[in-house]
Amino acid sequence: MHSSVMNLRYMLSRIARGQFMARVIIKLGGGLITDKTRYKTVLRDRIDAVSEVISMIIQMGHSVIVIHGAGSFGHIEAKKWDINDGLKTEIAEQQISAIDAIRRDMDELNSIVIQSLNDAGVRCESLPPRDWVNGVGARFSGDVSVFHRGPDSAVPVSFGDVVDVDGANQFGILSGDHLMVRIATELPDVILCAFLLGDADGLLSGPPNKKDSILINQWSHSDGFVGEHDASIDVTGGILLKAQCASQISTSAKHVWFIDGKVPSRMLEILSSGDTVGTRIVPG
Ligand code: IPE
Repeated sequence: MHSSVMNLRYMLSRIARGQFMARVIIKLGGGLITDKTRYKTVLRDRIDAVSEVISMIIQMGHSVIVIHGAGSFGHIEAKKWDINDGLKTEIAEQQISAIDAIRRDMDELNSIVIQSLNDAGVRCESLPPRDWVNGVGARFSGDVSVFHRGPDSAVPVSFGDVVDVDGANQFGILSGDHLMVRIATELPDVILCAFLLGDADGLLSGPPNKKDSILINQWSHSDGFVGEHDASIDVTGGILLKAQCASQISTSAKHVWFIDGKVPSRMLEILSSGDTVGTRIVPG
């Protein structure tokens, strides 16, 4: 048997069923599951690796909620047609067809994520925000109690999406990170909220591609922000937005972490020992 799988099995065996079971909320960042620079390029192996670990977390008896980002299935077209800033009358027609295309692309990415989870033995139910959300940011209107499930129910899956917005804007982009905030702060018993990144071990002291950037093991909002985000691609705010959202969540969830989604077994380490390689977000 592959050694990393053996390690996972070992970790799993140390956590006896019947121990305190709770909710685990996982965000698969768009930068993890897609090549952000190439339109609609999915990285299926990475999704599959996360799905395997999700299946193990469910076997432990936890209830899991999965949120995923858009990456190159959303940001490229959204940026091109300024979807985040709402309706612009001079390009309204192009915006409307871009919204259709983005939603179709997001459905495609969502069905790939769900297929991967199904292949790992995880039953899912998709809850696209366009069907139940109005407004953007963490204060959107929409009832997140639909994500409240017992450990044996289908896993609710949702994602960043183009949603309706009241007023002149008419539409906007709801980030999966804002969904995370609402779900993690409104649902009970959240033991772990994990933001899975594609390009780093966690929050770094500088840009991921710079050699002297080092991992920050623990971060609170009062530490201030050091890294930089890729504004050239992200319409929803990148790592800065994520850090703010995680900080909000840290006031109500025990473990809030930024971890490398390419090593998803780190979620099991947090659940078994309370620690791993990554950035733990703490209140403050
Ligand atoms: C963005 O969602 C949604 C669209 C651009 C349609 P996220 O903000 O959650 O996506 P990532 O994780 O940055 O790709």
